[in-house]
Amino acid sequence: MRILVPGGAGFIGSHTCLALLEKGYEITVIDSYINSHKKSLQRVLDIVKRNNRVKNISIDIEIADIRDEKAVEKLFIRYKDLGNPIKAVIHFAGRKSVQESVLDPLLYWDVNVNGSINLLRVMDKYNCRTIVFSSSATIYGFSNSLPLKENSEIKPINPYGRTKVAIEQILNDTYNNQTDKWKIANLRYFNPIGAHSSGIIGESPIGIPNNIFPYITQVAAGILDQLSIFGQDWPTLDGTCVRDYIHVMDLAEGHIAALEYLNNFEKKLVNLNLGTGLGTSVLELIDTFEKVNNVKISKNFAGRRIGDSCKVVADNCLALSCLNWSPKRDLEKMCLDGWKWQILNPRGYD
Ligand code: NAD
Ligand code: WQD
Repeated sequence: MRILVPGGAGFIGSHTCLALLEKGYEITVIDSYINSHKKSLQRVLDIVKRNNRVKNISIDIEIADIRDEKAVEKLFIRYKDLGNPIKAVIHFAGRKSVQESVLDPLLYWDVNVNGSINLLRVMDKYNCRTIVFSSSATIYGFSNSLPLKENSEIKPINPYGRTKVAIEQILNDTYNNQTDKWKIANLRYFNPIGAHSSGIIGESPIGIPNNIFPYITQVAAGILDQLSIFGQDWPTLDGTCVRDYIHVMDLAEGHIAALEYLNNFEKKLVNLNLGTGLGTSVLELIDTFEKVNNVKISKNFAGRRIGDSCKVVADNCLALSCLNWSPKRDLEKMCLDGWKWQILNPRGYD
């Protein structure tokens, strides 16, 4: 079964491509490499070849923008003509920086929303109506009670989050059309961290990381001087913010579970939180990282970051019950694998 993976060269996409290949799926990636590296998918292939002792495995990679209708269409035509049509799409392509979305909202609406519309239009034209979409916990905003359920209030507080809500709404409207049967999974990720246990693929942010985990690994490696902890006066046990960190391989496996779940239906739309359901404070994360890896993280306390939520934790019961999936790797494993990737690749893929 051939799957199209827009944004498959990125952090979550590359780990999902690995999981897809290991389960025997054929994949085609479309990626502009605007926030990723050519090496990531080459390394995915290296891992699959090594683990499965196979030589003839490949990923068809199209370097193009998902807003380019002709480029997307070309892929659907290619596989239709080969008698091996694209059966489903796992859609990761888009911009993901909250800060950048505030500075350049038009870019975010164009790439994320117009890109997704373009993709859906071509899918529809070629009768491919199964899609797993990368949504985000960021859509819940911060006025909700915890843990966050799929029916908690949707109230994004930045342009990035609003583009995710808009795409979910477009997917809802697409699903509700009277003629065609769509199968759609909106996966709302919490905080993906870590790396594949080989240390061969991982997160490779361009420039100084915004997210805490790559910041920690780069401080531990001596690339960055010190981690600033944003706030020590939050109403949590130790005064620092709480998040639901999930191992990127658990997230990757969640995508395959979602795809296989959709296959049970003729028509389906489902929204699912992909998190562990466990909250971890910034200090607990640092502490765990230091202990399991036997390293020290130089740190200081800074003021609260504008737009931060105090606690973001998933209620993942729906995903657990629908998908026959559960996160298997704990915080220690996230820290071990993320550090292994950092040590083996001090400058990421560069
Ligand atoms: P990433 O930036 O590593 O991956 C996104 C990929 O999309 C990159 O390879 C990038 O080059 C590609 N891309 C961007 N714009 C494109 C375009 N117009 N055409 C083609 N390719 C394009 O990000 P990620 O962390 O792997 O996230 C994947 C998806 O998951 C994103 O949609 C993101 O919004 C969403 N998400 C991420 C997180 C997170 O914390 N990483 C959390 C929730 C949701
Ligand atoms: C985690 C915690 C910070 C950096 C973001 C996006 C969200 C989603 C996931 C895509 C917070 C603290 C951070 C630092 C710190 N992405 N922190 N020092 O903000 O939960 O979520 O990524 O959809 O949309 O907003 O993740 O990793 O930035 O922060 O103390 O240098 O670490 O205050 O409590 P966040 P994060």
